[in-house]
Amino acid sequence: MIQKASAIAHPNIAFIKYWGLRDEANRLPANDSISMNIDGLTTFTSVEFDASFQEDHLSLNGEEITGKSLTRVQKFMDRIRQLADVQVFSCISSENNFPTGAGVASSASGFAALALAGTAALGLDLTSEELSTLARFGSGSASRSIPGGFVEWHTDPDTGNSYAKSFAPADHWDLVDCIAIFSEAHKPVGSQAGMLLADTSPLQAARLQDAARRLEICRLAILNKDFAALSAITELDSNMMHAVMMTSNPPLFYWQPGSLALMKAVKEWQSEGLDVTYTLDAGPNVHLICLPNVLDILIERIRTFPGVINVLHGKPGGPARLVSNEGIGIAQK
Ligand code: PMV
Repeated sequence: MIQKASAIAHPNIAFIKYWGLRDEANRLPANDSISMNIDGLTTFTSVEFDASFQEDHLSLNGEEITGKSLTRVQKFMDRIRQLADVQVFSCISSENNFPTGAGVASSASGFAALALAGTAALGLDLTSEELSTLARFGSGSASRSIPGGFVEWHTDPDTGNSYAKSFAPADHWDLVDCIAIFSEAHKPVGSQAGMLLADTSPLQAARLQDAARRLEICRLAILNKDFAALSAITELDSNMMHAVMMTSNPPLFYWQPGSLALMKAVKEWQSEGLDVTYTLDAGPNVHLICLPNVLDILIERIRTFPGVINVLHGKPGGPARLVSNEGIGIAQK
């Protein structure tokens, strides 16, 4: 019997980042984090289980995937099989409507869509908390792409429960994430490997010790739609994570000269009165979070900014959801 389901999910951008694991085997993060999903950037994933398949197959944007990326997905499918108590292999087809390898993390939307489509295909009806828990084993940030809008990923250190929950819907605040792409190359050290070095930085302890304070400020800034407060805490948190990366052993430098130049430009644009702030993940691309009234002027400035090769943007996005088995369109450039 063929069992099939399809789902879509959006990537997310964290205002308060997670970096480091307190328990690697159970993929428990060292600190809680807050993010928003990015609408318009979408992963569409179909999963089909069939007793005649000899192993799991994965195609990404029409290309057959092998090696380490396939192994990572096969391990994730093992978890889904264990939940459903079956031993049947799958054929997975996943498409991003944003340029592949554009430096926008597709692992978050990818594993969120896979968790939902994979479990639904086997007839499991998991709660959002259960799906988020499952997705975090594929990629930590995928746990935050399960619920919609503005999301907090919390870990209870006593029970080990660790999943993300929405604290404000997507239409709560019309922020825009405008992403300046500096590089489409794969990072030499991905986030999963990079964050294992976090504890070698003498700054990580201070970063973790201050995390509850930053989370509280960020949550309130979002709930109160206080852009100045969100801006200050978002930049501080990104700078702190990158300070930890740069002081790890061996050190990790994810920024390019253009990334720093753009961060400095943002500080100038703020003094002109523009509501814009920056944050960077484990890569050189700069996420400019802004209010919609400054979007046009920002896009104009970023497009011509030295080193920028592409600009994408999206407003707060909804949760991962099941869809019929049709494809998706291509994101705006
Ligand atoms: O989702 P992972 O486990 O690959 O880690 C992503 C970590 C950052 O993107 C750098 C920060 C975050 O919280 O999204």
